[in-house]
Amino acid sequence: MSNALLEVRNLSVDFHTARGTVHAVRDVSWSVDRGETPAVLGESGSGKSVSASAVMNILDIPPAQIIAGEIYFEGQNLLAMSNEQRRAINGKRIAMIFQDPLSHLNPVYKVGWQIAEMMTAHGRSMSEARARTLDLLNRVGIPEPHEAVGKYPHQFSGGQRQRLMIAMALALKPDILIADEPTTALDVTIQADVLALLKELQAETGMGPVLITHDLGVVAEIADRVVVMSQGQIVEQGSVRDVYHAPQHAYTQKLIGSAPGKGQIKTLDAGLPLLLEAKALCKTYGRFTALKDVSADPGARAEPGGGGGKRLWQVDAGPRHPAA
Ligand SMILES: Nc1ncnc2c1ncn2[C@@H]1O[C@H](COP(=O)(O)OP(=O)(O)OP(=O)(O)O)[C@@H](O)[C@H]1O
Ligand SMILES: [Mg+2]
Repeated sequence: MSNALLEVRNLSVDFHTARGTVHAVRDVSWSVDRGETPAVLGESGSGKSVSASAVMNILDIPPAQIIAGEIYFEGQNLLAMSNEQRRAINGKRIAMIFQDPLSHLNPVYKVGWQIAEMMTAHGRSMSEARARTLDLLNRVGIPEPHEAVGKYPHQFSGGQRQRLMIAMALALKPDILIADEPTTALDVTIQADVLALLKELQAETGMGPVLITHDLGVVAEIADRVVVMSQGQIVEQGSVRDVYHAPQHAYTQKLIGSAPGKGQIKTLDAGLPLLLEAKALCKTYGRFTALKDVSADPGARAEPGGGGGKRLWQVDAGPRHPAA
């Protein structure tokens, strides 16, 4: 038996569908030691999320079936545990964040309550949970935490929602945080901020992020070891440096060869007629200013998440934001 904190050993998962059996994960083995940051890299459909879902016990069984393998956490096989034993580990020792925070934040509850509830559900007092919620919001970079706790998920930008989900995942101080495409839905500057936050939190808390991504840049940014998956199987794994500089498998070579930056960037034709233009636009939500004297051609604009781009379109064309 290895000394790994988490070890996935010879895992195979099938899905039984009306159109036959899908072998989503086939004989996959990877592990996480304390202090290291592995990444699982692979194209869409390669089995990354299904492997992570097996670790978190959130596969829909059926149609999914774990047909072989073991998953060890601190030497104990998670797959042999009762639901009650799993509940003591999920969220508390191993937590997960997802690509789409909106589908994992409840739209009808205020975010402060949702984060605090993670803690009260695991036996913390309400006053302790409230205090830690403010701390966590502060820590993940949400402005004005005292006001933020009283807001609903739709009142935050995409990058802020990802931060809220990270705060929720950190509520119980997990040893491992599985981050499934945590930055894919975000624009590049916010991606960099969220990755920097995960790195800082790792240094501060010792929590080991396991990054799941199809993005080579994200792997290079944060991980020290990479597991490459294709069509449900691991095709190679090793240090990020070795795999990037000397990829052994044809699939990895193709992946690295097709990374952005290898081709030419196409620019828009500057001679096209202007279809829509905004002049001196202002928009506030209570005390928060979303747009201040903005004049722009929205079609040609690029801005970071939370930069007001989406609000510009909403003010111009609707639908109206419920809080407006
Ligand atoms: N509920 C399901 N029913 C049937 N097949 C499924 C189900 N969920 C996943 N699969 C199949 O399992 C395989 C692996 O899916 P998985 O979600 O792990 O891919 P992924 O590597 O995470 O891709 P992505 O980068 O798009 O998130 C795919 O072929 C997918 O179609
Ligand atoms: Mg996935």
